[in-house]
Order: sequence, then C-alpha cells, then structure tokens
Amino acid sequence: RTRVFSGVKPTGHLTLGNYLGAMRRWAAEDQHRAEALFCVVDLHALTVEHDPARVRRLSRQAATLLLAVGVDPALCTVFVQSHVDEHARLAYLMECTAGVGEMRRMVQYKEKAAREEEGRGGVRLSLLTYPALMAADILAYGTHEVPVGEDQAQHLELTRNLAERFNRRYGRVFVVPRATLPRVATRVMDLQEPTVKMGKSEQARTAGIVYLLDEPETVRRKVLRAVTDGGSEVVYDRGERPGVANLLDVLAACTGVADPAELAGSYGSYGALKKDTAEAVVELLRPVRERHAELAADPGYVDSVLREGAGRARGMARPRVDAAYEAVGLMAAG
Ligand code: TYM
Repeated sequence: RTRVFSGVKPTGHLTLGNYLGAMRRWAAEDQHRAEALFCVVDLHALTVEHDPARVRRLSRQAATLLLAVGVDPALCTVFVQSHVDEHARLAYLMECTAGVGEMRRMVQYKEKAAREEEGRGGVRLSLLTYPALMAADILAYGTHEVPVGEDQAQHLELTRNLAERFNRRYGRVFVVPRATLPRVATRVMDLQEPTVKMGKSEQARTAGIVYLLDEPETVRRKVLRAVTDGGSEVVYDRGERPGVANLLDVLAACTGVADPAELAGSYGSYGALKKDTAEAVVELLRPVRERHAELAADPGYVDSVLREGAGRARGMARPRVDAAYEAVGLMAAG
C-alpha cells in the first residue's frame, strides 16, 4: 500500500496556504487511498527563536486543526514528532549523509538565516541542518508520497538525494519518496504582498495572511483589501498581475475549478472577484472553525489521539531506523 507522510510546523497559526497547499488533500484524498501519517513537527519549530509556551500551545492547536479539517485518526496516524524518538535518531544519520554545501544552498535556509541574523540570537545550527531532520521524518516511514506545497519542493529533492546516496553507500534501506503538489494553489501568496508566499511566521504584518481560525468578518476584510494590480481587466497572469492571479488561484481552489484562467473571463471587475473570493474562503473555513471549537473543548480526546498515534508511528519507524543504524556500521545493542 502507498505510504504517505506529511507535516506542519507549529511556528505560528496555520494559514489558508497550509490548508490549500497541503492539509486539505490529506483529509480529502490521501488518508482514503493510502496508509498515511500526519505529524505536527514540533522539533522543527526550535530552529528559530521561540517562546516555549507558545510552541506548546501552537502544537496542540495544530494537532486540533488537523482533526478539524477532517484528518481522521480512524483512517490514518496523527502524532507529534517529538513523541517519537526515531525522528531525531535518524536525523543524525542524515547529517552524516548530507554535505554542508547542499544544506547551505537551500533557499529557505538562506532566507531565514538572513532574517535571524538581524535578531538577537544569531542563526541556530539546527536551521542549517533542518532538511536532515525533515528527510528523517519522511524516510523513517518508507514514505512513497509527500503531499506538500511548492515551497517544500527543494527540501523534497534533497530528501530524494539523501535516500539515494544512503542506499548506494550502505545498501537499500530507504524508499525514495516524491512530492505531490496540489492541482491549483500550489503557492498561495500574501494578499498584501502577492510576490511573497503567504507564511504563518511573518508575525509583523498579518493583513495579507488568512488564518484558518480567523473570524468570517476578518477573512472578508483581508480578502476585500487584497492588493490588486494596475489595470482593471481580470486576466490570469502570474508574472504581470500577481495579485489578481492569486485571488483567482484561491477562488479556483475553494470552488473546485481546475483552471483559474478560466475563471478570469467571468469577472468584469476586481471588486466582484474579491467579493466572490471572500465568500468562498469564508464558506471553506466555516466548518473548520466550528469543528475546531468543538475539539478544543475536549483536550483529553486530542491527547488520546496523539498518544495512540505516537505509539503506532514508533512501531512503523523503529525497524527501518534500526536497519539504518546497522547498515552504517553501528554495533547492535545486544
Ligand atoms: P510548513 O509548516 O511551513 O507548511 C505546512 C504545509 O503547508 C504548505 N504551505 C503552503 N502551500 C501553499 N501555499 C502556501 N502559501 C503555503 N504555506 C505553506 C507547505 O508546503 C507544507 O506542505 N518543512 C515543512 C514541515 C515538515 C515536513 C516534514 C513536511 C517537516 N518535516 C516532512 C513534509 C514532510 C514546513 O515547514 O511546512
């Protein structure tokens, strides 16, 4: 059976980008057709300056949101990364497989390192080695497919390279995984700055970010105030009209239209496009917000899901990580 693994990082409140790029498919498709694992990757949240209480809170919220979007623990495995030691154990072997040069070439590292350098704490070593941990997340489970947004494509390419290199050196231990991207909205852009990805951790400016738990009025305001482009005709052109193209992408994704360019023709003005997009997003998020409120009222249930998920995940990861330890020449514990 096809194995699927993916994760969300609890560095901020989850966004419409997380949902359209990744989480929606986990619930609607992946968990039904594959043996799937979905993980709150909390160790990754420690790679930048963080507030411990906030990370803990956001981890719980992310887990609750996973269930709220329809990820069903009866169909798949939902867990928290730090509850399963195998991730960190295998990450070390990935660091022994990867080179410093290829880590430094990661676009997300370069961007985040530049931002962190301006901060007080300097750049954490774990920010550089982040993709080794991410590769471990994926490879520990013999994953075939990793449903992610476009921004993770480079990390997935590196994961493939590490798997192939490890297998070549030490024998075939790992499945070489591939990224699966959504048909539309592979990269949802910030509504205020449509040349920049809509990202949860850009805390300074939130007017262009739709959060999954935003109130309907907030969602409407953010979408209606989205930056559009010069001209007034609604055309789909990502290069020249990034703001309008982004709205068309979001509207297409919300309404299940395969081709956002097709939608452009039915709009005579930016205003009408914004209005429909705002309503489509509000309706898309309504059940998520409602379900989240129910689940948040029952933290004991979420805890029990995560406990059981961690147990299952451990059992799935353990044999392969043990095999990798043996393959590289480490002595069995006896
Ligand atoms: P993270 O937490 O930044 O994002 C979670 C998922 O949401 C997707 N995504 C987007 N898709 C479209 N448009 C956007 N604006 C947008 N923003 C985020 C991401 O592509 C991702 O699929 N490194 C990962 C977490 C991770 C992981 C893993 C993922 C760690 N280990 C193993 C898959 C497998 C990250 O930072 O995702």
